[in-house]
Amino acid sequence: MSLRGKKIVLAVTGSIAAYKAAFLTRLLVKQGAEVQVLMTADAEKFISPLTLATLSKKKVISALTDAEQWSDHVSLGLWADLMLVAPATANTLAKFAVGICDNIVTAVYLSAKCPVFFAPAMDLDMWKHPSTQHNIKRLVSFGNRMIPVGHGELASGLVGDGRMAEPEDIVRLLDNHFAEGNQFKGKTALVTAGPTYEPIDPVRFIGNYSSGKMGIALATGLANRGAKVNLVIGPSRISIPDHPNIKVFKVTTAQQMYDKAVQLYPECDVAIMAAAVADYRPKQEAAEKIKKSASDMTLELEKTPDIAAGLGKMKQSHQLNIGFALETNDEEANAKAKLVKKNFDFIVLNSLQDPGAGFNHDTNKITILKKDNTQKNFELKSKTEVAADIIDEIAGMLFPGNGNHN
Ligand code: C5P
Repeated sequence: MSLRGKKIVLAVTGSIAAYKAAFLTRLLVKQGAEVQVLMTADAEKFISPLTLATLSKKKVISALTDAEQWSDHVSLGLWADLMLVAPATANTLAKFAVGICDNIVTAVYLSAKCPVFFAPAMDLDMWKHPSTQHNIKRLVSFGNRMIPVGHGELASGLVGDGRMAEPEDIVRLLDNHFAEGNQFKGKTALVTAGPTYEPIDPVRFIGNYSSGKMGIALATGLANRGAKVNLVIGPSRISIPDHPNIKVFKVTTAQQMYDKAVQLYPECDVAIMAAAVADYRPKQEAAEKIKKSASDMTLELEKTPDIAAGLGKMKQSHQLNIGFALETNDEEANAKAKLVKKNFDFIVLNSLQDPGAGFNHDTNKITILKKDNTQKNFELKSKTEVAADIIDEIAGMLFPGNGNHN
């Protein structure tokens, strides 16, 4: 019953599945949600605004302006706890993907600060078209949530994928979403992410290809589930979502990351070390740019502090430490050794031998190795989904009996 009192913007677009919006509205209202229905002009051809206004007990908004008033899409976008686009047509999804704003639904979408869920509904071939799939991927990369389409008979008579999910399933998913939003309430997480840069001279450094995507996905996932997240991130070009639960600490070197992590660690319940920290740094940083000389040059390196090992030593019984191991060979043995050495509760192994895994990809393929020698293998997934799997595992350990969604 997590929908009670929640403010939902239900955007209905022009598909035959729009008739299901009536059931959807009815179910949401029955669960105690406050529903504001928006409709595109085409949606009104499939279902009457009067039906949805009656069921939602609120006037339906279908135009940015009418003769009497201008609909304030910005305040609607801020009012909502969640925006649900159902059915979402290929046309509306394409507009969302590129930021076209030509009706009330697209205007509210662009103004919305809340989570956006969309339930596509279209014919088989439209669904399969690379344009549609590309747009959906783009929306998911923005953090929007796709509600999977069903398989079955379509309005065209064709049989295949493209049916809008059933209203009961959509409502259950939203209910879970709000329940999840409180799962980590009262918990604090520390996440390290991205590469570190170790200066050689004022213009050069030792770095690595880490993008920070995995750590940002973890921080976002935890924040969405109600955790207070301290994200300590090295130089990363990826934009970090402006989330009220995420506090960002930007650092450059391993030493700076270590100092910040050590300072923040005592207040945290879970620490995830997703950063690709340089293991060595130049012993001396040259004050001036090093000039080219005719012969070879040698850089003398020294070890950087091991953040994970340091936090492992500080760990108290109520704290969980999670590490990553990116390996190119002897993956499992290396990961297991790190698990013990750094006092992790579990380690997330990704191998560079798996296509699509590791640095800079949007996807990752992981294995979770636990202290008790158990192991879980996962498929290749988007980093957002991988983060959810890792967070589920953490929830299972922090809240045994009720937090594990596996
Ligand atoms: O030993 P290796 O660098 O492969 O271990 C990887 C794990 O240790 C990751 O979780 C990484 O974030 C962490 N680590 C760290 N500080 C270092 C090196 C690695 O926190 N200096």
